Amino acid sequence: MAVEEDSAQVSEAQIAVHWREEEYIQPPAHFIGQANAADPAILERFKEEHFPECFKEYADLLSWDSYWHTTLDTSNPPFWKWFVGGKLNACYNCVDRHLPTRRNKAAIIWVPEPEDQETRAITYQELYRQVNEMAALLRDFAGVKTGDRVTLHLPMTPELPVTMLALARLGVIHSEVFGGFSGAACGERIADSSSRILITMDGYYRNGELGDHKVKADQALDRARQEGQEVDKVLVWRRHPGQYASKSPMVEGRDFFIDELLPRYRGAVVEPVSMPAEAPLFLMYTSGTTGRPKGAQHSTGGYLAYVTGTSKYYQDIHPEDTYWCLADIGWITGHSYIVYGPLALGATSVMYEGVPTYPDPGRAWRIAERLGVNIFHTAPTTIRMLRKVGPDEPRKYNYHFKHMTTVGEPIEPEVWRWYHEVVGKGEAVIVDTWWQTENGGFLGSTLPALQAMKPGSCGPGVLGVYPVIYDENREVVAAGSGRAGNMCIRNPWPGIFQTIWGQPDRFVQIYYQKYCRNRESTDWRDWPYFSGDGAVQAADGYFRILGRVDDVINVAGHRLGTKELESATITVPEVAEAAAVPVVDELRGRAVEIYVSLKPGIAASKEVEEKVSMAIETEIGKIARPKNVWIVQDMPKTRSGKIMRRVIAGISNFTDVGDTTTLANPEIVDEIRHHVQSQKMSSGEAPRELSAEEAEEIKAFGQVE
Ligand code: PRX
Repeated sequence: MAVEEDSAQVSEAQIAVHWREEEYIQPPAHFIGQANAADPAILERFKEEHFPECFKEYADLLSWDSYWHTTLDTSNPPFWKWFVGGKLNACYNCVDRHLPTRRNKAAIIWVPEPEDQETRAITYQELYRQVNEMAALLRDFAGVKTGDRVTLHLPMTPELPVTMLALARLGVIHSEVFGGFSGAACGERIADSSSRILITMDGYYRNGELGDHKVKADQALDRARQEGQEVDKVLVWRRHPGQYASKSPMVEGRDFFIDELLPRYRGAVVEPVSMPAEAPLFLMYTSGTTGRPKGAQHSTGGYLAYVTGTSKYYQDIHPEDTYWCLADIGWITGHSYIVYGPLALGATSVMYEGVPTYPDPGRAWRIAERLGVNIFHTAPTTIRMLRKVGPDEPRKYNYHFKHMTTVGEPIEPEVWRWYHEVVGKGEAVIVDTWWQTENGGFLGSTLPALQAMKPGSCGPGVLGVYPVIYDENREVVAAGSGRAGNMCIRNPWPGIFQTIWGQPDRFVQIYYQKYCRNRESTDWRDWPYFSGDGAVQAADGYFRILGRVDDVINVAGHRLGTKELESATITVPEVAEAAAVPVVDELRGRAVEIYVSLKPGIAASKEVEEKVSMAIETEIGKIARPKNVWIVQDMPKTRSGKIMRRVIAGISNFTDVGDTTTLANPEIVDEIRHHVQSQKMSSGEAPRELSAEEAEEIKAFGQVE
């Protein structure tokens, strides 16, 4: 990874960060009294001298068909292998094995968005039936085989976990694409994973509307075909079986309604396929520094052991709890902490279809009250929104959380305190869990009964994970030094992804090249994992995550690559050049602003701005729609012609743009600043002063390539 020439003198790691240290908050005694991890001996057991054997404790939470012989095989770094020799089936572990003891306990409680539609409770027995029937359909009708990839583009309805588990039962690799992504984005992922089957739904409710979702399947197939991938069958769940909610025609011989096929497989039982621990379980696509999304490949044994262990100790899930994670299963959080972790523990996992503030700001708390939810898990962006629209709503509902999670973005201490005092009613312990799509499960968090909370900090490394902050010169940035640097993990852990699907070289290059000490070494100590996040470590060992140091923008907890946004933008014929930058946003954490210069002879207009927004919506999805599109005469560029995103990011955020003397066209900076900032002032986008962490992130933006 190269550091841009003119920012090299002020590397991110050398900038001192100043902020107020927050006070510790201790977990309540009633939580400690019942916690799964209440004995400090667990911290001893997971100390570095016991690595990697300590993870046997996680593996032993699973049922293995054949027990493994080697905990960690490091012979081909950094392609780590966990629990080698072991065989298991993920679906069996999440469903079948619970039948003897909790057959008629709810596995999933699903809440539809329309409040007049009934909540559906699916017991473990019922889940077993549905998963088996779907597995039979997939095997016998769709013809999928162990090792195939199947793309899912499903919303938050129970059909999504049923489909995932049915595929896992067959040893087929599922690749779920977030329902809010566009058809084109789905098509790219179909092509990248060479899927011949797409499973989708006709429509789903969001904000009171039953939207047309099947139409995206047709766009997805077009895009996949352009990229050389044909799809044989599109299997369509119907939101209301028997009634088709989409205007898109069903293509004869290609598109099939699942509810029409399933009766053929009524009562079918499909033997779970016993898979090697290292067999891939699923792909989860995420954004990085290049235009093409990368498919993070997760293993069966290591991944499942890791999410089960962390669900038990960090989410503190007991079989009698009612656990609600408000994430979408289309993201890694939903895979790990709605489906695989909670179900492997035999818990009751709540799923909600729609928007948490629909039809009014009390909706989430009504659900919590009605279902008796006692563990709650969401992202800062949702917490900010709930606070904005209904700061006093939680007080009106009689629910009691023992435990709450925040994940996905840095949380401002002020927002954290509202979460603690108002949502948690001062009774709930909070874990701020730092991790990434690539990681499978949590990497940084407090152990809720044993380590005090500190607002805005995720805490130390989790059990068996040993983080370190390195600077650009590969030196360790000491805890308590007040300096920021690159957040890395010194060791492998069972949940780490195995590779980027089909791109092993890129996998090594992005995550390991920067800090690898010796490419020949088979000692894991020579292969620290580079996360792409900036962080600071306080003297007590707690980490504060500052955000991405690479070209990734975290919008409402969703990762968007600047290159992806820019490639979408230049599909607009009028556009010559494009640059995407983050802007601090009160609700979404960060929003996207796009700067474009136009081809010669084309005048700036509202139409071009709108075309850019539409192109992004079509190529990626609504979540990526820019807050502003700025048409400029020229971009600030280095002498070698690279766009200096850091400079325009500074302008968009009303912060210091840093040194501009090395630019090829320094005069353009004032012109752009005037153009952008005067419009922002007049449209009431009044800037607030950025916190030290936010200013730090903006300054570092675009440094790593
Ligand atoms: O920048 C970090 C931020 O989200 C990124 C990972 O995004 P994604 O792969 O979509 O996974 C999100 C859910 C696991 C990280 O590189 N991030 C995640 N959790 C936190 C966070 N930033 C601060 N605090 C967190 N707790």
